[in-house]
Amino acid sequence: MRAVQVVRLEGPGSVEVGEVAEPTRGEGQVLIEVKAAGVNFPDLLLSKGMYQYKPEPPFILGGEGAGVVREAPEGSEFSAGDRVAFSSTTGAFAGVVAVGEGSVFPLPGNVSFEAGACIPMNYLTMTFALITRGQLQKDETVLVQGAAGGIGTATIEIAAALGARVISVVSTPEKAEFVKSIGSHEAVLVDGFKDAVKELTGGKGVDMVVDPVGGDRFTDSLRCLGPLGRLLVVGFTGGEIPTVKVNRLLLNNIDVRGVGWGAYASPRAGYVRSEWDRLIPFLEAGSVNPPVSGTFPLEKAGEAVAQLDARTVLGKVVVTP
Ligand SMILES: NC(=O)c1ccc[n+]([C@@H]2O[C@H](COP(=O)([O-])OP(=O)(O)OC[C@H]3O[C@@H](n4cnc5c(N)ncnc54)[C@H](OP(=O)(O)O)[C@@H]3O)[C@@H](O)[C@H]2O)c1
Repeated sequence: MRAVQVVRLEGPGSVEVGEVAEPTRGEGQVLIEVKAAGVNFPDLLLSKGMYQYKPEPPFILGGEGAGVVREAPEGSEFSAGDRVAFSSTTGAFAGVVAVGEGSVFPLPGNVSFEAGACIPMNYLTMTFALITRGQLQKDETVLVQGAAGGIGTATIEIAAALGARVISVVSTPEKAEFVKSIGSHEAVLVDGFKDAVKELTGGKGVDMVVDPVGGDRFTDSLRCLGPLGRLLVVGFTGGEIPTVKVNRLLLNNIDVRGVGWGAYASPRAGYVRSEWDRLIPFLEAGSVNPPVSGTFPLEKAGEAVAQLDARTVLGKVVVTP
């Protein structure tokens, strides 16, 4: 089969596309013919050896996707021909992937392979983040940083579907138009976002901040929280890991909460599937529908990953083997 491999930890420009042996199905695994694979920030970090999980090269890039079951374990709920999505950490930018059954999910008939490929990593993270960690309530206001990216667009769609008001923070007017087109109630630019949020909320501040960016805007994000507000730490695309002066938490009655979806999910058998089942009504209703702005063949997977580094992606891009 053809696959995209990281052979040197030198970034997306150095990935190699070529023939490799197809994986065989291990015990408890489902063999899937990949139709589309979602491109995520961790793929960029993995290509540079900067992700928390550090596999030895060569390895096949790609942490999620959607496709058709070729072979499943005896007694499995899946059988050959089923449409599924999957989460895999690596291996998805290839013709075929073998995945543990607990990380394979039924894909509703109304969801395309391209959209389905973009759901596992960001949407499962954000149901865990918004509901389990953040305890988001209907009619609360959520401020989301990096809103036009993968985690950002998942936040917009899920928070809006749960009945929250969403304010997006983005770096360009084009991204502001884009996030409003997928359901963000308001959008503000990074420059001066704190004052814009104060104005939009009549001085009250927001109930929750979702922060996949970190960096130097973190303190202003904390300043946007109203009393009993929660800031969810999701990632650090801005590069720098911020620090918190805890007197701010005390003085303003606010929380900073970490979100480590993988760390929570991996020791809990069946947990990821229960999160997927929580998403299914939203998928069937169309309120969760990942915006895919670009489709790349395997040969151009490096270019797809590089777009995340260049900060130019609207929503998600996918690789189609
Ligand atoms: N905690 C978890 O369980 C979990 C799960 C999944 C992903 N993550 C993490 O969440 C983060 C976001 O992932 P994602 O897939 O949403 O990424 P993405 O699609 O690339 O979006 C990231 C956004 O960050 C903003 N950004 C600010 N500074 C940036 C920089 N120097 N380089 C690139 N982007 C920058 C960009 O928005 P603007 O240009 O508008 O500022 C961009 O749209 C990553 O760190 C990822 O590892 C965490």
